[in-house]
Amino acid sequence: VGAEKINTDIVTLTRFLTEEQAKHKEATGDFTLLCHALQFSFKSIAYYIRRATLINLTGLAGSSNMTGDDQKKLDVIGNDIFIAAMKSCGRVRILVSEEEDEAITFSEHPAARYGVVCDPIDGSSNLDAGVSVGTIFGIFKLPEDAEGTKEDLLKPGTELVASGFTMYGASAQLVLTMKGGTVNGFTMDNALGEFILTHPDMKVPKSRAIYSVNEGNSLYWTDPIKEYVNSLKYPEEGGKPYSARYIGSMVADAYRTLLYGGIFAYPADKKSPKGKLRILYECAPMALVFENAGGQAVDSNMKRMLEVVPEHIHDRSGIFMGSYNEVQKVLDVHKKY
Ligand code: AHG
Ligand code: MN
Ligand code: MN
Ligand code: MN
Repeated sequence: VGAEKINTDIVTLTRFLTEEQAKHKEATGDFTLLCHALQFSFKSIAYYIRRATLINLTGLAGSSNMTGDDQKKLDVIGNDIFIAAMKSCGRVRILVSEEEDEAITFSEHPAARYGVVCDPIDGSSNLDAGVSVGTIFGIFKLPEDAEGTKEDLLKPGTELVASGFTMYGASAQLVLTMKGGTVNGFTMDNALGEFILTHPDMKVPKSRAIYSVNEGNSLYWTDPIKEYVNSLKYPEEGGKPYSARYIGSMVADAYRTLLYGGIFAYPADKKSPKGKLRILYECAPMALVFENAGGQAVDSNMKRMLEVVPEHIHDRSGIFMGSYNEVQKVLDVHKKY
């Protein structure tokens, strides 16, 4: 039997970004350099997460952030790594992070033309249990006359030029999408130290009988949400109930939904009237990924998630995202109210 055909035409993230840049004649290379800094931050965060238990990096930092979350040590480390990477690449003017009360303006780079939003460690409440966590990011290109203030980032997701996330699971999985582009998945090869293109042009299945929501909040749900979820659990005559899958890390729930299909929901409810998830660095970046993968993402008012404008940098929203037809079911139920 001949030697297994070795794939020698490996597309690394570096090569992918170079080829993307070549498609844009006017490109200056700034975006590419920004993405390399992002790539480094994911590699570095992955390193610390995998060693956390060994070097006493689990547990609480003893502080809390603007949205009231208790910060884990890794929230703080991930935040510091991310800020350092964005600052040192010299292509970022302003940065919003879940773990920073205020937007950070890099005054050292007044001519830098990008704004970045990020959730350095998403799902951190699960960290000590070894559950997959991730980093979520979004990239805005600033207008020429930008002041480099947070107003430059209080924009709808339709203005994102790119977004994505890295899930630190069995291996580090990066999902990256550009405005109007495809969704591409890269897997970290630790031997090479490279993200390798393993999931080109990802499309979320149009339907899938999987729902992902924290049913512990059912008491607080609005009537349309109760009716919708019950319609999945107690289907009409002869229908088959949906499977429930909820990890409690948005990145992990999102990655499964992207690959398998289904719906992920964090509804606004009577306990959290504006929902729990943050628009800038959780809802909007994920909405761009799901729309570019052929799915849908809407807020609790059934408005297209990418058109929601945050009132402040940590503003929250309800969200329903996933398979096109599954989100459509939520929209259809709400039409009856
Ligand atoms: P973060 O860890 O960045 O604060 O985000 C946590 C979020 C998100 O990851 C997840 O979907 C959601 O919190 C889970 O919330 P519940 O535990 O209330 O279900
Ligand atoms: Mn948090
Ligand atoms: Mn998060
Ligand atoms: Mn977080």
